[in-house]
Amino acid sequence: MRNLSPQQLAFRLSILIAALISVCCSLVWIIYYPFSLMASIAFFTFSLVICYFIFLWGIGQFIDKKFRLIYKTIHNLKVGLKREPQQIDLSEDVFGRIRQEVIDWDQKNRKEIERLTDQEQFRREFLGNVSHELKTPIFSIQGYILTLLEGGLEDEEINRSFLLKAEKSINRMIEMVDDLDEIAKLESNRMQLDLKKFDLLALTKEVIESIEYKAKKKKITINIKAEDKNIFVKADPARITQVLTNLIVNSINYGKEGGRTNIRFYDLDENILVEVADNGRGIEEVHLPRLFERFYRIDKGRSRSDGGSGLGLAIVKHIMEAHKQTINVRSKIGEGSVFSFTLEKA
Ligand SMILES: Nc1ncnc2c1ncn2[C@@H]1O[C@H](COP(=O)(O)OP(=O)(O)OP(=O)(O)O)[C@@H](O)[C@H]1O
Ligand SMILES: [Mg+2]
Repeated sequence: MRNLSPQQLAFRLSILIAALISVCCSLVWIIYYPFSLMASIAFFTFSLVICYFIFLWGIGQFIDKKFRLIYKTIHNLKVGLKREPQQIDLSEDVFGRIRQEVIDWDQKNRKEIERLTDQEQFRREFLGNVSHELKTPIFSIQGYILTLLEGGLEDEEINRSFLLKAEKSINRMIEMVDDLDEIAKLESNRMQLDLKKFDLLALTKEVIESIEYKAKKKKITINIKAEDKNIFVKADPARITQVLTNLIVNSINYGKEGGRTNIRFYDLDENILVEVADNGRGIEEVHLPRLFERFYRIDKGRSRSDGGSGLGLAIVKHIMEAHKQTINVRSKIGEGSVFSFTLEKA
C-alpha cells in the first residue's frame, strides 16, 4: 500500500466497493427480475466511476488536511522560504514522497545540529584561549603602571625600564590581535592572494637576513641547500615570506643553543618541496596532529619570552590551504623537527 499513488489507491478501493455494491444489488435484482449480465456490468461500471471520484476527492481532502501542512513546512524549510511550495500531484506516490521528505529533513537537521554543536564547542574554546592569552600581557601592564603610580615614576632607576616593559607587553597584544585578524580573514576567504612568479631562493635569503640576529643570539647557523641558482614558483610572495618567517623563527625558538637550521628545496614534477629542518628539542608524536590548531602550544606553561601564543602555525596552514598546497611535519623528540610544504612551479 505504501507505494500506491492516491489515484491508484482510489481505483483499488473503488473496484472493491463497486464489486460489493454490484453483487448486493444483483442479488436484490434477481428476486424481482431475471438475471441480466449486461445490467450487472453496467451497474458495476457506473458504481466504479462514481466510487473512484468520491474516493479520489476524499483522499485528496484527507491528504490536504493531514499532510499538506507538514509537507509544505518541511519542503519550505528544505528549499528555503522564498520558493513557492510545490503542488501535490495525486498521480504520484504522495505518501512515499512525504515519508522520504521527512527522512531527508531529519538527516539534514541532525547533521546541522552536529555542526552547530561542534562550532559552539570551538567558539567556547576559542574565547577561552583568547581571554587567557590576553590576560598575561594585560596583567603585566597593570603591574608596571601600578608600580609607577605608587612612586616608581619618580624613581629614575626604574621608571624608564618599566615603561619599556609595559610597551613590550602592549606590542605583544598588538601582535596577537593582528594574528587573530589575519586568521579571521584567511578563514572567511577575505584574503586575496596576489599570485605571481618569483624566485623562492632569493626570497628565502631575504627572510634569513631579516631574522639572522635572532639566530645569532642562540648561535644557530642557518644553511640553504639548493641545486639551482633560481627556483621560480607561482605564489603570493608576501604570504610565503610569512610562512618562511614563521617556520624559521620556530626552528630558532625551539632549536638548541649552537644548533643548525637547514632549508632544502626539492624539485617534484609540478611542485617545489621546501623543507625547514632543525636539530632542536623535537616534538612528541601525540602533539603532531594538533600542531596546526590555533593556540596550540606544546609547553603551555613555558615563559613567553622564547615562544608565542601558538597562532603562527595556524596562519601558516591557512596560507598553504589558500594556495591549494600542503604542509607537513615530522619530528623526533630530542633529535629535531622537519616542516615541509609545497609550492607550484612557475
Ligand atoms: N621547530 C619546532 N620544534 C619544536 N617544537 C615546535 C617547532 N615549531 C613549533 N613547535 C611547537 O608548536 C607550537 C606551535 O607553534 P606556533 O608557531 O603555532 O606557535 P608559537 O611559536 O608558540 O607562537 P607564535 O608563532 O604564534 O608566535 C609551539 O608552541 C611549539 O611548542
Ligand atoms: Mg611560532
